[in-house]
Amino acid sequence: MPVWVVVGYDEAVAALGDSRLSAAATLEAGGLDGGRLSLDMRDALLKSLTNSDPPDHTRLRRLVSRAFTARQVDAMRPWVSRLSDELIDGFAQQSQVDLMAEFAAPLPILVMSELLGVPEADRSQVRTWSRKIISGFGSPDFPVQDATDFVEYLRGLVVQKRSDPDEALISALIRTRDENDALSMDELTSTIFLMIVAGHDTTLSLIGNGVYLLMKEPDRAARLRKEPSLLPAAVEEFLRLESPVPVASFRAATSPFDIGGTRISAGDLLAISLQAANRDDSQFAEPSRFDPARPNGRHIAFGHGIHYCLGAPLGRLEGEVAIGALLKRFPNLRLAVPADELSWSQAPFIHRLDRLPLLLS
Ligand code: HEM
Repeated sequence: MPVWVVVGYDEAVAALGDSRLSAAATLEAGGLDGGRLSLDMRDALLKSLTNSDPPDHTRLRRLVSRAFTARQVDAMRPWVSRLSDELIDGFAQQSQVDLMAEFAAPLPILVMSELLGVPEADRSQVRTWSRKIISGFGSPDFPVQDATDFVEYLRGLVVQKRSDPDEALISALIRTRDENDALSMDELTSTIFLMIVAGHDTTLSLIGNGVYLLMKEPDRAARLRKEPSLLPAAVEEFLRLESPVPVASFRAATSPFDIGGTRISAGDLLAISLQAANRDDSQFAEPSRFDPARPNGRHIAFGHGIHYCLGAPLGRLEGEVAIGALLKRFPNLRLAVPADELSWSQAPFIHRLDRLPLLLS
């Protein structure tokens, strides 16, 4: 599939803000599920914020933002901290741990399950379904049966929360009202699925990439232990330097236009590289150097424009809490293998380590 790759910072920001680029086109072309899902199933699973354009996107985002607010995320800090401490308790007596498998992967799914109100007994099944579906994206082997079972499960969960609401996000999404408007069943199931998918590998990757960068520069880790107030700035630099989402969802041009001196024709696909933009030396001096003292907020690891990450406050919070807790608990935390023996996942849409073996004491 031929695509244009946008690599400059200014060009990436311009493209992400350009209304001539459509995010819905990949879905309409059946690109995500290899064309294997029935239309009914595709709408129930995939017709969400990230695959829609205005005016659908504007309406959906307004409704979802009412249910999922930054204030709510602030209130989550104590229980994200508790979940993180409980996971650490589970391996603290070992001499070595694979941080990806035992900490970075389970934490975000626990947080999302609790946030959404997924019953505890169902969490491991939900995790299995979402992992299979995510790894099947774009492939002719897309797991149709798992996707169908997951949709049925989510529909059942919505029905159950309708009759027996709780304080968690699925009930809030069901309650969300905007004048006479509300989320339909398809919008509810696809939004819940998007939250699970969008909040999982991304946060896992932030935690793994951040710890990896600190383990390569132990002085930095020591400084953060002494001055935890520097952690938020360090998290921004982790996000810039090893951006979890290497490219934004593909966009399709709806009309011809020029970008970076190149003519794009209607129908062309664009892969906008957040990773390359975040290391553009016209924007960031010595871009490959880890420097948390850079002015904050200019990286585009959470995207830019109307699709800017809705979960950015939560991703940041999880990154800070998780990495802070690890540094505090293990004063001698270090890599168990030389850094150049670590391998990066070949998954095209996520930038993460396969394993991160660490010595704990
Ligand atoms: C460090 C963690 C995270 C990173 C790096 C990240 C990154 C991103 C990026 C780059 C986009 C825009 C994609 C595009 O324009 O094609 C995005 C969108 C989105 N993210 Fe995140 N994300 C993170 C965590 C989360 C979490 C925890 C949630 C859920 C609570 C979440 C929910 C979403 C949603 C719903 C969208 C779609 C917004 C829209 O299309 O309007 N993300 N994220």
